[in-house]
Amino acid sequence: MPHALVVDDEADSAEMLATLIALEGFTVASVGSLREARKQMILQQPDIMLLDLVLPDGSGMQLIEETRASCHMEIVLITGHASLETSIQAFRLGVTDYLVKPINMTQLQGILSRVTKPSRLHAEADDLQTQLDQEGHFGKLWGQSACMRRIYQQILRVSGTGVTVFITGESGTGKEVVASTVHELSRRRNRPFLAVNCGAISPHLIESEIFGHEKGSFTGAERQHQGFFERANGGTLFLDEITEMPLDLQVKLLRVLETGTFMRVGSTQAQEADVRLIAATNRPPMQAVKEGKLREDLLYRLNVFPIQLPTLRERPEDVPLIAQHFLSEISNREGQLKRFSPAACKQLQSHDWPGNVRELRNIVYRAYVMALDDTIVDACLPTPDEPLPVMSGAPTLTVRVGTPLAEIERMVTLATLEHLGRHKEKTAATLGVSLKTLYNRLKEYSTVPGDENESLEENPSHY
Ligand SMILES: Nc1ncnc2c1ncn2[C@@H]1O[C@H](COP(=O)(O)OP(=O)(O)OP(=O)(O)O)[C@@H](O)[C@H]1O
Ligand SMILES: [Mg+2]
Repeated sequence: MPHALVVDDEADSAEMLATLIALEGFTVASVGSLREARKQMILQQPDIMLLDLVLPDGSGMQLIEETRASCHMEIVLITGHASLETSIQAFRLGVTDYLVKPINMTQLQGILSRVTKPSRLHAEADDLQTQLDQEGHFGKLWGQSACMRRIYQQILRVSGTGVTVFITGESGTGKEVVASTVHELSRRRNRPFLAVNCGAISPHLIESEIFGHEKGSFTGAERQHQGFFERANGGTLFLDEITEMPLDLQVKLLRVLETGTFMRVGSTQAQEADVRLIAATNRPPMQAVKEGKLREDLLYRLNVFPIQLPTLRERPEDVPLIAQHFLSEISNREGQLKRFSPAACKQLQSHDWPGNVRELRNIVYRAYVMALDDTIVDACLPTPDEPLPVMSGAPTLTVRVGTPLAEIERMVTLATLEHLGRHKEKTAATLGVSLKTLYNRLKEYSTVPGDENESLEENPSHY
């Protein structure tokens, strides 16, 4: 039977916690000071310690520092008194989770269930390490460079916990892939992963989209509506482009992080939020604070576990591996195997990838479409003079001088679509636009009746 130690000087709350833990099948010892905690640990080594930071004979931090090197127990902070700075420091020392008073039963059960199954994560970490050494990827993330290996270590460390993660990095560096990897490796993996782009939702609707609303709470609110916090219950909510969230809503988000509860628009009843939050931005966060786009107090709350993704320029050694991975993936999908010529490989490495991995993927796809046979030569790849080389052997169009640009765009788009057998992804790659942009254009030209409902997202759970 697993053993838990509760260290809390408030007798009532310690007793209640001990009872709840016992109900989950643990043996429990409960003490009210650092001195007693040390004694208890000698008597029986706990599998998990639930620790209040403010204790009569000192700070719980001391205990964390004393124990972290020597034993494998999980440490969960019971916050309430703890200042934010101390909590952040505690996470850096290896604390794996936190509970806010009053204790939320669902959250507690989640934490305890992880303690009873620690071996799963260890086995999984071993598999991922083997995959990384042999094939060059960590789940969906490709790259073997030292800086990516550090990222994988951070992902492994944080996914076993319930703490908030803050991912920063330029556009296309893989922030969303990292967020979903953290979710997949966490105990929440069988629950939803919802990705919300805060910049894509109208500022008027974003509060009710995130927190939900009650019937009649504003004009047009005809029914009660579940927000993302409710829909992600038990799972992970990924708030992308957090700096685009209106400032008054950032205050409300901060409150959720502090209290573990939220309210629907138009309701006064607080609901428990059993959601792991991951936020991301492609702006330097301190600069966003200075520009008044991100509240400083929210930044500190989010930044409990920061992950800063490297650009592709910082890891040029990963480019051939990732390019080859994308090429194999595309070859498999399209049914024709293609390879890079040695000169093409060299050229890929000399490009500086302002659009990071997303750009690399688009360029590989475009080169695949453009290659006349099964070898992708360097002429299919960008150079400083010609960022998007043109397809050789394609039919030409004649345009009269003075033709409106919009008309030229329409002609080229439709002609490329025909030339590529109406294959939309290939067409978008060749024209150097996103698939979504292509669909929008085609809709404008109204050439694709019935296509409006096709999913355009890279990820079907994306809002
Ligand atoms: N390390 C990687 N290995 C394989 N694919 C990756 C990697 N990083 C990113 N990608 C791919 O690149 C594309 C962009 O990734 P993602 O959407 O996660 O970037 P992002 O940092 O969220 O960008 P943005 O700031 O524009 O939202 C996706 O197709 C993703 O699958
Ligand atoms: Mg993103």
